[in-house]
Amino acid sequence: MAASISIELTANKKNKPAADQLGFGKYFTDHMFIMDYSTEEGWHQPRIVPYQPIVLDPAAKVFHYGQTVFEGLKAYKTDDQRILLFRPHRNFQRLNQSNDRLSIPPIDEDLALEALQQLVLTDQDWIPSAEGTSLYVRPFVIATEAALGVTPSQHYQFIIILSPVGSYYKEGIKPVAIHVESEYVRAVAGGVGTAKTAGNYAAGLKAQELASGQGYAQVLWLDGVHHKYIEEVGSMNVFFKIGDTVVTPALNGSFLAGITRESVLQLLHHWNVPVEERQLSIDELVEAHRNGTLKEAFGTGTAAVISPIGELSWQGERLRIGEGQTGELSAKLYETVTGIQKGRLEDPLQWTKDITKVQTGV
Ligand code: COI
Repeated sequence: MAASISIELTANKKNKPAADQLGFGKYFTDHMFIMDYSTEEGWHQPRIVPYQPIVLDPAAKVFHYGQTVFEGLKAYKTDDQRILLFRPHRNFQRLNQSNDRLSIPPIDEDLALEALQQLVLTDQDWIPSAEGTSLYVRPFVIATEAALGVTPSQHYQFIIILSPVGSYYKEGIKPVAIHVESEYVRAVAGGVGTAKTAGNYAAGLKAQELASGQGYAQVLWLDGVHHKYIEEVGSMNVFFKIGDTVVTPALNGSFLAGITRESVLQLLHHWNVPVEERQLSIDELVEAHRNGTLKEAFGTGTAAVISPIGELSWQGERLRIGEGQTGELSAKLYETVTGIQKGRLEDPLQWTKDITKVQTGV
């Protein structure tokens, strides 16, 4: 398989940023993967090339109708210099689910994984090793056909870029404050809310901007029909510890089925912690806060990993959770998930894929 991916190495390697300068998604590595699609040829010409701008016709459908999907996953360097990917198969499965929803032709998941491995190995010097850092992987598909009719594009590009990152929030693992949004909504069941597509994120920017102006890290979305049931935070799924039970909204087709969400649920089951995936209203949450049973809240996501929530604002009221400190369960989940990702802890559910010894095409 590797032989079918051509590799052109750059003659101009970039300087790498210091670990404490990384932030999230500001720097990109020396190479990228790209593959084209046409209705006549299908997906073809998979290649790794120097990182570079892409040239698109101004009429490319992605600009006009938002026919595009993306993924996010991470590669890690372990203390003994191994290179681990976290659940990459799941990301490519989900990419194809998003593709299907956006009428984009499916991508061979094995080829995508091979491309990812070859790209990460080509740029392995870019994988940071400092605590809390990783190499964020952003696969995405764009509709490139130059035509203004509203029909699925006949041409696409599948691209993977890599970005060395630190923590997603400037707070790091410290608890963030989140604004519960009562006016704007992100998606409704039957729409594209469960697909990882750009428009979902664009739809959230307005509310996020308003919330951030008031000092909140992100917005917690309520459902688009009743404005009542908890869905997700802008870049994370969300969990609450109420009494001894962990509650997270059940997947309902209007928010993202996060892979970190799925991993956390599997861990909680593995630890025999009582878990409920169900509808959860903001009223129930406020009541749990009032009667002292809301013990912890945290978000989960590839970028954010586990992010404790120390405060929720709802209709002018500020609900402090766990006295604004990181809860015991949130901390344990963070330590366990990042420990597995960094190869420091046993991986009982076999999530990591060690690619250190994968044969490279270079
Ligand atoms: C991720 O967690 O990987 C995401 O895609 C969220 C965000 C950066 C858009």
